Amino acid sequence: MSDKQRKILVTSALPYANGSIHMGHLVEYLQTDIWVRFQKMRGHLCTYVCASDAHGTPIMIKAREQGVTPEALTEAFSEEFKRDFADFGVDFDNYHTTHSSENEALTVEMYEALRARGDIYTKTIEQAYDEKEGMFLPDRFVRGTCPVCKSEDQYGDSCEVCGSTYSPSDLIDPVSVVSGTTPVKRESEHYFFRLGNYETMLRDWMRDAGLDKNMLAKLEEWFEAGLQDWDISRDAPYFGFAIPGTKDKFFYVWLDAPVGYPASFKNLCERRDDLDFDDYWRPGNDTEVFHFIGKDIMYFHTLFWPAVLHGSGFRTPTSVFAHGFLTVNGKKMSKSRGTFIKARTYLDNLEPSYLRYYYAAKLGPTIEDIDLNLEDFVARVNSDLVGKLVNIASRCAGFINKRFEGRLADTLPDESLFKEVADAAEPVASFMENREYSKAMRQIMLLADAANRYIDEHKPWVMIKDEDRQAEVHGVCTQGINLFRSLMIYLSPVLPAVSDKARAFLNEPAWQWSDATKPLLFTSINKFEPLLTRVESKQVEKMVEESKEAPAPVEDGEPVADDEPTISIDDFMKVDLRIARIEKAEPVEGADKLLQLTLDVGDFKRQVFAGIKAAYAPDDLIGRHVIVVANLAPRKMRFGVSEGMVLAAGPGGKDIFLLSADDGAVPGMRVK
Ligand code: 2FM
Ligand code: ZN
Repeated sequence: MSDKQRKILVTSALPYANGSIHMGHLVEYLQTDIWVRFQKMRGHLCTYVCASDAHGTPIMIKAREQGVTPEALTEAFSEEFKRDFADFGVDFDNYHTTHSSENEALTVEMYEALRARGDIYTKTIEQAYDEKEGMFLPDRFVRGTCPVCKSEDQYGDSCEVCGSTYSPSDLIDPVSVVSGTTPVKRESEHYFFRLGNYETMLRDWMRDAGLDKNMLAKLEEWFEAGLQDWDISRDAPYFGFAIPGTKDKFFYVWLDAPVGYPASFKNLCERRDDLDFDDYWRPGNDTEVFHFIGKDIMYFHTLFWPAVLHGSGFRTPTSVFAHGFLTVNGKKMSKSRGTFIKARTYLDNLEPSYLRYYYAAKLGPTIEDIDLNLEDFVARVNSDLVGKLVNIASRCAGFINKRFEGRLADTLPDESLFKEVADAAEPVASFMENREYSKAMRQIMLLADAANRYIDEHKPWVMIKDEDRQAEVHGVCTQGINLFRSLMIYLSPVLPAVSDKARAFLNEPAWQWSDATKPLLFTSINKFEPLLTRVESKQVEKMVEESKEAPAPVEDGEPVADDEPTISIDDFMKVDLRIARIEKAEPVEGADKLLQLTLDVGDFKRQVFAGIKAAYAPDDLIGRHVIVVANLAPRKMRFGVSEGMVLAAGPGGKDIFLLSADDGAVPGMRVK
């Protein structure tokens, strides 16, 4: 146990209040809640705040579609969120909304401070405008044909088919999503924040924040590309806060959203004497502030937010912890497959503890994606939680309850085994502190195996038949219960509901982390109630069935997952895939990853730069038949022009596998 009580403020990203919480969101709220509960058990003053993200065009439009005010829409979602979070055991100290007086006051204060130091300027820009609705359209609210690959019905900022990015005015036949009419271009004055002024400050901040190395690499990329000034205003009509001194300008939702963190905290300070706003949000205090976020919103949290805070006289976050995305059964969540599972649908079918444990068993501190494999979920919950953990207690509790009047023995027969579990307190704590939950869970389960082995070896169910060995049974079961208890203490942040039941059984009011190192002896315990039941596959199947939504109808061919972009057969036919023979393969001077390949494609040759150097030695490639995209437009690279693309599978680095052709295929053959 660390000696000094830390004062820590923790946040999770604020969910947009226009759609239900789902399994993807829960990765973050559970990850954060586990960390906060852990900190509290270590004796620190840890405060967890969140809020609904209530502003912006999508919320305004959804409210309009439903014929309600944005306030009513976001309040209804906030109520739903609070129920979902509470039922998953996500225990916020405060859950507020960004549409609040505290948030408005802080946002205006920050803006005024930035303006006073010359970091805000105005500039006239041109944007898509919907004349019928009388509103400017965000890029995502304009759709049309991609100017690059000509795919229809693409967003105004990027094409889901070819991945090109552009602006709405580049779209062919653009249409406003709001009214269905053709938008026009219109000029308007916008407010900009000079992010470029903050590069040095941000570089210093990121060094001190000890960010994960993948996050640092991303930041480095952004610095190299140059920090762009940030457009922080939007024109009326807009659901948000009006910019002081303007008639029809509002703060862009992403300016006031993170201000929702201190605003929610400020709202909490009104009710809590032990918390002082300035102590946590003005520079020069020894408090800590951590933001848990998804990797998709790093730009906002590691560039804009620290810069805005610093520029306006607030403290910057101690660190930002980003996690990856969730896939279900290895794929993006899908409504048609039934893997887009809402929090409530899960709760209607399954115990929240299962998911809390499963995510913990998968989560590490990096931005790597995590997969919820539903078969593995059932297997792991049953084997670890029911088969290992709960089993320890259920094998011992009955004897204590029935044969020893519910009293634990006064000594442990195997002190060294207890010590082994007690000695894990600091290593497991250090995994938890560093968000290495998967490592913590692994270590706890190894200790659970040792506890079960102990019981298997001593067989209390055999000894109990021998009148002379009753004291021994008492000792062995007291030992088993104590091993279970220490492991349960380590698991309390992950499994608070199970931990509460275990404490009730053991007759203990509360647990601190360090309690795991001291045995519970010579004391009365209560009747053992089942702590957790097995999860059945059919419960999971039912949840998936209930999550299924019909895919959008298609005119011919197989229906496809609604949320995965598709290409038409015509698009596919445009790709000229050919068999090619590698004639030459050479390293490229100054390039770590590239090989320069000369390909014989029958009637013609191609020079291709391929990022396969870590996976293949050049000599092994000569003579090999591979598949090449032969009609890819030549691309100028730093080392020369690349005239095609060789197909390969795998995540990258050493794990790249060139696709090859069976015998008989000759250079130039078309791949069909
Ligand atoms: O990406 C999102 O869902 C945003 N609503 C997160 C906001 S986090 C914070 F900045 F408010
Ligand atoms: Zn395209």
